[in-house]
Amino acid sequence: MAFDIDMIKKVYAQVAERVDAAREVTGKPLTLAEKILYSHLWDGKAKNAFKRGKDYVDFAPDRIACQDATAQMALLQFMQAGKKKVAVPTTVHCDHLIQAKVGADKDLKSAMDTSSEVFNFLESVSDKYGIGFWKPGAGIIHQVVLENYAFPGGMMIGTDSHTVNAGGLGMVAIGVGGADAVDVMAGMPWELKFPKLIGVKLTGKLSGWTAPKDVILKVAEILTVKGGTGAIVEYFGPGATSMSCTGKGTICNMGAEIGATTSTFGYDESMERYLRATDREDVADAANKVKEHLTADPEVYANPEQYFDQVIEINLSELGPLLNGPFTPDLSTEVGVTMTEKAKANDWPLQVEWGLIGSCTNSSYEDLSRASSIAQQALDKGLKMKAELGINPGSEQVRYTAERDGILGIFEKLDAKIFTNACGPCIGQWARYSDPKNAPKNSIVHSFNRNFAKRADGNPNTHAFVASPELTAAIAVSGRLDFNPLTDKLINEEGQEVMFEEPTGWELPPKGFEVEDAGYIAPQEDGSGVEVNVSPTSERLQLLTPFEPIGNEIKGAKLLIKAFGKCTTDHISMAGPWLRYRGHLDNISNNCLIGAVNAYNKKTNFVKNQLNGEYDGVPNVQRAYKAAGVPTIVVGDHNYGEGSSREHAAMEPRHLGVVAVIVKSFARIHETNLKKQGMLGLTFVNESDYDKIQEDDTINFLDLHEFSPEKTLNIEFVHADGSKDIIEVNHTYNHAQIEWFKEGSALNLIKKQNA
Ligand code: F3S
Repeated sequence: MAFDIDMIKKVYAQVAERVDAAREVTGKPLTLAEKILYSHLWDGKAKNAFKRGKDYVDFAPDRIACQDATAQMALLQFMQAGKKKVAVPTTVHCDHLIQAKVGADKDLKSAMDTSSEVFNFLESVSDKYGIGFWKPGAGIIHQVVLENYAFPGGMMIGTDSHTVNAGGLGMVAIGVGGADAVDVMAGMPWELKFPKLIGVKLTGKLSGWTAPKDVILKVAEILTVKGGTGAIVEYFGPGATSMSCTGKGTICNMGAEIGATTSTFGYDESMERYLRATDREDVADAANKVKEHLTADPEVYANPEQYFDQVIEINLSELGPLLNGPFTPDLSTEVGVTMTEKAKANDWPLQVEWGLIGSCTNSSYEDLSRASSIAQQALDKGLKMKAELGINPGSEQVRYTAERDGILGIFEKLDAKIFTNACGPCIGQWARYSDPKNAPKNSIVHSFNRNFAKRADGNPNTHAFVASPELTAAIAVSGRLDFNPLTDKLINEEGQEVMFEEPTGWELPPKGFEVEDAGYIAPQEDGSGVEVNVSPTSERLQLLTPFEPIGNEIKGAKLLIKAFGKCTTDHISMAGPWLRYRGHLDNISNNCLIGAVNAYNKKTNFVKNQLNGEYDGVPNVQRAYKAAGVPTIVVGDHNYGEGSSREHAAMEPRHLGVVAVIVKSFARIHETNLKKQGMLGLTFVNESDYDKIQEDDTINFLDLHEFSPEKTLNIEFVHADGSKDIIEVNHTYNHAQIEWFKEGSALNLIKKQNA
């Protein structure tokens, strides 16, 4: 679907030379991850080796994918860049804003009613700026990307953490915040700390009830939710090549659950089969010509301990089906007796109320066909469903083909609900309860990736367990969390004891994929005449106006808040119900810093308005300062702005008139986001100066007109009693970033350069 074969051929044309250069500078054989990273350097061929886990490096990704929730602010920002078209092939996918309630037809229609202004906005911006648009119902971003755009040896970024799914087709694909995507769309490099490398050697072969999902559930048990942080996980060995491409996608997808930067597999025959089955013969042919560069050098896999920072080995022949949960994806339990004991000890409800199959993790044709083989057995053996079953196909192509092949019909005979080809219950878009907060304690099993409290249905008492699609189907039929399909019998409607046989399925549809309308809308060749309409009265969308430069004369500023302790991007810009306003900067700014703890009274969202001496919520106080033309600063503790890379956490204070954030230390991405928005992100030279700052201070910047790289700044804090402290602060702005500050934002500068 409009994938860019010329771009792929260009990547392959230069891969040999770039890999050779990387081998030379590193002086060693290369892992696949290193080959992809070094062949996507912004500056071309490698000139020096990078330190893993230390050096920040500029990359040139091949593609960008955005989902409908995060795309809103990303595209609003991109519109500020003054570009005619995106610099890198980009797609937008409408999948997060569709509720699962009664079934695909009605649910899709109701999403179109409630979110049409967002969908229309995304469609028109895509049309205007050369972005491929996948309309609501076309499918889940990562399944659609795997089917249409992912290619071995490529690098992509996406504004969603499960972008990593494309590692199943041999990419380095990484989830990023909107600001990073905007940079790349606007033709700028993308910066990443050169990752560490974890090798996972897979020996043996999957069989019977064990699925690719169990591999990643096992890896999650071993590495835990933090074990992959800052690393690329590279899978290899005979167990890897024996697995389907979409199965590899499942494993890479859940790499996000162990915190990994991304995961990947070397190019093999399963990938070639998948490329050919998804109508990309030319990509397969091109990949075959450079295949030695699309996997690690042989010495690496022969001697992995020497080349990876950490190596794990899993024998697939010994791996059994697992259930991970509840509330965390790394708590792993074997099916059967172990689960009985654990559930009793922890008071987990053993009765299962729902089985859900789908999400970007497990919604391929193979997943649906294997799960349907269990559903068919339930019908043949006269078993009645003990739990309800819901299915979210990953794409319209998968859905159409699965319907044609009778797979969906099997589920329907068991009264399963076929939801829209969208995220649905995976992201809380599941209208399961009218009052989720007070809903009863219960267990569900799903084939998704995340199972945090409230994630699927908003009910804090729902115990969600993650399993393969086939095990999810079997457990839904049995209605028992501790059902072991390998050993346990079930009683059918005639009172007979029956057992399931092993699941079977098709890696790829035997009659090929088919689809009538995949849901893709190509952008106009010349979109300059396309109007992007945003209603001025919309509460969900607001066009951005360029930020005015702050200037170098900051005098008489006031302290908005001195944040105490942890202050993550969630404290700065809360999620939950606020996500509705993520395309409307002024409305979402009403959550600005409402989660931060005020150091003077240890309360949240309760700060002093120095204009009238009264206490009020942070956004209200800040709006009062803004109305009075008084600049403000925010002071923070260590690792300020850690957490998600959400750009709203920098844009909101900027929009409301905060000029500087001064902290003991920053989370790097947030610090960069502040710089991009044309603000000052500063750190105390002496951390103890944090304590000198008082609630009623008036703040004067003494030497901002001399703002230059590697030179500290001095700020005068005039206290209420007239005494003063001059505090020295550090910064990490380089020349280019100082220009961002001077122009008001990085996008203002890009726009100026494009004028
Ligand atoms: Fe959607 Fe869930 Fe994947 S929200 S993108 S299906 S993780």
